[in-house]
Amino acid sequence: MTALLGIETSCDETSAAVVVDGVDVRSNIVASQVDLHAKYGGVVPEIASRAHIERLDSVIEEAMSIAKVTPNDIDAVAVTNRPGLVGALVIGLTAAKTLSWAWGRPLVGVDHIRAHAYSPAIGLPAPLWPAVALIVSGGHTSLFLVEGPTSIELLGATLDDAAGEAFDKVATILGLGYPGGPLVEKLARGGDPKAIDFPRTMLEPHSLDFSFSGIKTAVLYHIHGRGRTSGGLEALSQRQLADIAASFQRSVIDVLVRKTMLAVSRTGVHTVVLGGGVAANKTLRTALETECQSRRLTFHAAPMAYCTDNAAMIAALGFHHLQRGDVAALDLDAYASGS
Ligand code: KG4
Ligand code: ZN
Repeated sequence: MTALLGIETSCDETSAAVVVDGVDVRSNIVASQVDLHAKYGGVVPEIASRAHIERLDSVIEEAMSIAKVTPNDIDAVAVTNRPGLVGALVIGLTAAKTLSWAWGRPLVGVDHIRAHAYSPAIGLPAPLWPAVALIVSGGHTSLFLVEGPTSIELLGATLDDAAGEAFDKVATILGLGYPGGPLVEKLARGGDPKAIDFPRTMLEPHSLDFSFSGIKTAVLYHIHGRGRTSGGLEALSQRQLADIAASFQRSVIDVLVRKTMLAVSRTGVHTVVLGGGVAANKTLRTALETECQSRRLTFHAAPMAYCTDNAAMIAALGFHHLQRGDVAALDLDAYASGS
């Protein structure tokens, strides 16, 4: 039995978890900072770093206490060291290095996005791999071929806005709050997804990359642009706003589903997994699941607790790095970009 303490501070959630053997989550504490950033309409890096400093000690203590473990029971400390806000990553990294040194346990550096790709496997009795993983969050939109926990190949990624970022920006355009994804989804429920034909940016015919900045601009022009709807936001009825939200959501989901199926044909796998904060979107889950069923593919979405940023996925993937002897020295650095 191998227990890892995981630490995650790459963006605006302060999280610590204890996970045994890469699958058995004994605790997963997440302190969200959403309330601190809401009034700015996005994550403010300086505020995120300060909040991580204030909260991390007690989050780690709580994770250890809920898991009923002492430092003696911990075999290694896994920490997100990329990608993310460097000032925020450094807080988790410093804590992890300190504990690794004080407890005399190995330090394991984990790539946050690869941990998202691995997250659908957490808690499952048998491995899901090989699979195509669609990871959609506020910072990333990526397709991976996951052949095993430490064999994760990036197939495509967003060239500009991430899907969650597009939801957040469209929420701002529509005068909704932050984070915008859940609010756009809620508004979309009363709208017609076919009302407006927003662009579906597919890039080159065989490209597995994404681009969502065009659709965001299309929504902006639809509301404020020449000859479309006059009078801006105030002139729109609740029904028209709902139609915009539903049509925007439909076009983002269409692109996500089509590119995922392209990745499936390209790799020849029979399993699709979904993770990241935008996986909370029920319309996306249903669309992907329906498409998989019609093609006789296995579909598995990560449980919501492991979709948003969390340390359980860091400790879980960290276990597999540890098994391979892939441990880090105390000069492990933080990086804004992925590996
Ligand atoms: O994975 P996550 O918690 O943090 C990042 O690593 O970015 O994802 C947060 C993102 C935000 O952009 C949020 O608006 C989006 O996920 N999101 C959603 C929904 N719930 C959260 N987007 C669309 N529909 C949702 N229901
Ligand atoms: Zn994330």
